[in-house]
Amino acid sequence: MTEITKKSRCLIDDIDEYSLAPDGFWALAEAVSDACLEIEGVENAYVSVTLVTGEEIKDINREMRGVDRETDVLSFPSIHYAPGKTAKDSEKRLKKAYDPAFDRYFLGDIVLNTQRAMEQANQFGHSFKRELGYLTAHAMFHLLGYDHMTDEEKRIMREMEKKAMRKIQLYRKEDAPVTNEILQSLAIEALDFSYSPYSKFRVGACLLSEDGRTFQGANFENASYGATICAERCAVSNALMAGARRFTKIAITTDEGYAWPCGICRQVLNEFKDGDMVVMVGGKNAPWKTKMLSELLPESFGPEDLDVQEE
Ligand code: THU
Repeated sequence: MTEITKKSRCLIDDIDEYSLAPDGFWALAEAVSDACLEIEGVENAYVSVTLVTGEEIKDINREMRGVDRETDVLSFPSIHYAPGKTAKDSEKRLKKAYDPAFDRYFLGDIVLNTQRAMEQANQFGHSFKRELGYLTAHAMFHLLGYDHMTDEEKRIMREMEKKAMRKIQLYRKEDAPVTNEILQSLAIEALDFSYSPYSKFRVGACLLSEDGRTFQGANFENASYGATICAERCAVSNALMAGARRFTKIAITTDEGYAWPCGICRQVLNEFKDGDMVVMVGGKNAPWKTKMLSELLPESFGPEDLDVQEE
């Protein structure tokens, strides 16, 4: 759990009026910082959050950074991370930031411009709460060692922010979690890509990666029969080429009845499962059934048996 040392010099009454009641902003800040810490894998931290006006943040920006400009959020990390490192791999530096008064690591200060947050919420067409939550998450990841100087850094930081917003269910529409129904309908949609002139048994699949992306697959048969690729492994290949590695769910469908994954596909799914994997089978006329991959492949043999560490 994060401890938050609160400071508010302005607008806090307004904040409570604007959809943040009954818990107010501080409960939101705590939920966001907890989510960020959990995603990063850091425990027992505290941060200070100050709510200020546009004028005030301009002063702070000038005094602290020599930038005479209003901005939406500022973060001042107390820890200087080594290049390319974040809090999770900076145990020694975290320890230096240990504060016995709080029995926690002090990550730094966050300064939020509530006026600008209100303007941006209106501009983006989402709630004030969502905007404040997002700005808090953005600042938290800065305090945890993330930055957005290069495109790659920006991509990683944005991914972390998205995860945090999903965790506290404050996502944008396009970031909303994929429901089972969506995954199932994407599997059904994939059926139309099947190439199955020999068996006439069309299979469609859709995988969900731990970062919320979906990847479709269909079966592609071959005159040699043996060169056939199943829908599940097609989806896995699609996903791996898009940079996804861990999968939480798969939906598999066929035109009639059920198509549980074959033995080879169970083994391939086992390689890339995120802890375990939910396997859903069903279709347009077959009510969906769910099993865990560990039930379909008990006593499995996998990467852990060979003690492989992926870079
Ligand atoms: N098939 C799959 O796509 N997935 C499975 O797990 C089982 C089998 C396909 C392969 C082949 O094109 C057809 O179903 C009949 O075996």
